[in-house]
Amino acid sequence: MNALPILLGVNIDHAATLRQARYREVERTCGEIVEPDPVFLALLAERAGADGITVHLREDRRHIQERDVRRLSECIATRLNLEMACREDMVAFARELKPALACLVPEGREEVTTEGGLDVAGQKKRVGDVVRALREAGIAVSLFIEPDPGQIDAAAELGAPLVELHTGGYANAYHGPDRQREFERLRVGCERAFQAGLTVNAGHGINYVNIAEVRTLPHLHELNIGHSIICRALSTGMEEAVAEMKRRMNA
Ligand code: PXP
Repeated sequence: MNALPILLGVNIDHAATLRQARYREVERTCGEIVEPDPVFLALLAERAGADGITVHLREDRRHIQERDVRRLSECIATRLNLEMACREDMVAFARELKPALACLVPEGREEVTTEGGLDVAGQKKRVGDVVRALREAGIAVSLFIEPDPGQIDAAAELGAPLVELHTGGYANAYHGPDRQREFERLRVGCERAFQAGLTVNAGHGINYVNIAEVRTLPHLHELNIGHSIICRALSTGMEEAVAEMKRRMNA
């Protein structure tokens, strides 16, 4: 169990997904009829207790736009966590913007959201170069990885101070026979990462039901949650959606 309250990073990508569904061709990203505004929702999330705001600026710009990230960087009072691929242009963007945290994720053009963790063990040089370039700019770096021993050890070896363990496998297995096995994989992963000196975050597929079990994972520092909160916000409003998740995280 966790001695300290688990922090909540609210991922607002899907607010931008909704906006882009209608206004992809429009140059502006907010104002007049261009809604929803992910930045406005981020401010509401903060007011309701979010400890950080997370966005993924994808290569294909399918949801969050560069302008959203710049506005967030100016407006939010908590921490900006920029999810990004290991690409030169993204490294340059991050070094200029200087978010509090950059989370390195894999990026495949066809996937709807991020599927699978970053293969750190298989591309140590490439990931290591990016970690170094970001840390030199004063940006804390997190690696989004599967809760597998080889990936965790490689992350520790590269000197990334944080990992975000991928909870998607567990979330997908939640209603099936593999749930316990997936949960155990996460539990062992959290222990191993913590013992290796890494700060342990987790995310992907966490919702208002599975949070009851996720929150019992050891050494959790922060959870990054997007889809379930944005969906809940459609019926309860953003502030209640965030507040309810926070209540469940640290019940
Ligand atoms: N963490 C990472 C690295 C992600 O890429 C995502 C979603 O794309 C999330 C957390 C949030 O996942 P969800 O939207 O399923 O809560």
